Amino acid sequence: MSVAEKPLTRLDDLPLSLYVHLPWCVRKCPYCDFNSHALHGEIPAGAYVDALLRDLDFDLESLAVRPLVSVFLGGGTPSLFDPHAIARLIEGIGQRLSGVADAEITLEANPGSADAGRFRGYRVAGVNRISLGVQSFDDASLARLGRIHDSAEARRAFTAARRAGFDNINLDLMYGLPGQRVVDAVADVAVAVDLAPEHLSVYQLTLEPGTPFHRRPPPLPDHDSLWDMHTALEAALAAGGYARYEVSAYARAGWRCVHNENYWAFGDYLGVGAGAHAKLSGAGGVRRTRKVRSPRAFMDCAGKPTCLAGARTLTRGELGFEFLLNALRLTEGFAIATFRERTGLAPAAIEAPLRRACERGWLSRDEHRIRPTATGYRFLDDVLELFLPPPP
Ligand SMILES: C[S@@+](CC[C@H](N)C(=O)[O-])C[C@H]1O[C@@H](n2cnc3c(N)ncnc32)[C@H](O)[C@@H]1O
Ligand code: SF4
Repeated sequence: MSVAEKPLTRLDDLPLSLYVHLPWCVRKCPYCDFNSHALHGEIPAGAYVDALLRDLDFDLESLAVRPLVSVFLGGGTPSLFDPHAIARLIEGIGQRLSGVADAEITLEANPGSADAGRFRGYRVAGVNRISLGVQSFDDASLARLGRIHDSAEARRAFTAARRAGFDNINLDLMYGLPGQRVVDAVADVAVAVDLAPEHLSVYQLTLEPGTPFHRRPPPLPDHDSLWDMHTALEAALAAGGYARYEVSAYARAGWRCVHNENYWAFGDYLGVGAGAHAKLSGAGGVRRTRKVRSPRAFMDCAGKPTCLAGARTLTRGELGFEFLLNALRLTEGFAIATFRERTGLAPAAIEAPLRRACERGWLSRDEHRIRPTATGYRFLDDVLELFLPPPP
């Protein structure tokens, strides 16, 4: 180890988040490659929550205790779980980890499976942020996407969440939808801005291998229209008071997503539930793990080592690359001190590609920070290619 390198920060210094995967949906959307499964019959809510807590106990056997900064109940469609099950889950997490009372606790909800009563129940259970999967406010687009709700339901769900006391709401939107024009995408964003959520996630629709949309692609906007669409969306969002702080994330001042920011800043996270991923740093390096994907298999093995479907420690080269893969998604880039703290590497480890990226006008740097330039942000894949680790 060179003098400029130091061991990874002590475990209890890095912020810790918890991701919980709730894998069922009413039906599978044709563009979705998340680990989500169409529900046949009743949701096994009680048994699944028991399994999640066993899984968490297993993870905590090998983790030094430190407080949580955030919990993210993602899916799938977590709003299919009734508030009692969510309350028992959050209570169980609070019995095992500190910081829960002050943590950001997000629950992903589908407008087709959440009503006013449920939102009130989630609030009482301790959820303090709702992420609503709206995708579009255009009924024809929603039908083409195979969504189970229409635009009116999405607006009702938003109002219901507000009335239930949620002062921190995110809406997920997608653009680049089949047959969508720039004006249609801007109209979607205008409705969203009108509702005035605290946060908006705006994703470009991608055709993921293994999905029906990938097998039979619908007619999507071409590359130039997508660029125009994104430029117009960003401008409309900025005018509405939403600053872009990550590739797909926009927030009103003070309402960035703590959980996702921790991912992007290469913080640590536990992952419990079917197919959940984790990233944890320690004296031995940075370790990534994932759990078995099948919900049924997960419920059978939760709490035992057999639930681990994969685990590996990142190589030195991967560490630098993975840090940049996350941190360069942030418009503000990263502090050099954070790079050092979270990878255990000296900045010299990335000096050569960093200089090339700066010479090409893709990154800028001062004594303390490294930031993507406007051009670098547009061609992030090209920037990252410079930092790719050599093949093993
Ligand atoms: C895991 S989903 C959970 C939200 C919830 N299940 C729903 O769909 O209402 C999170 C978000 O990812 C986005 N997403 C899913 N598949 C996508 C794709 N193929 N391309 C772009 N965004 C996608 C959607 O905006 C979705 O709301
Ligand atoms: S509701 Fe969300 S998680 Fe479920 S299939 Fe559709 S996009 Fe995927």
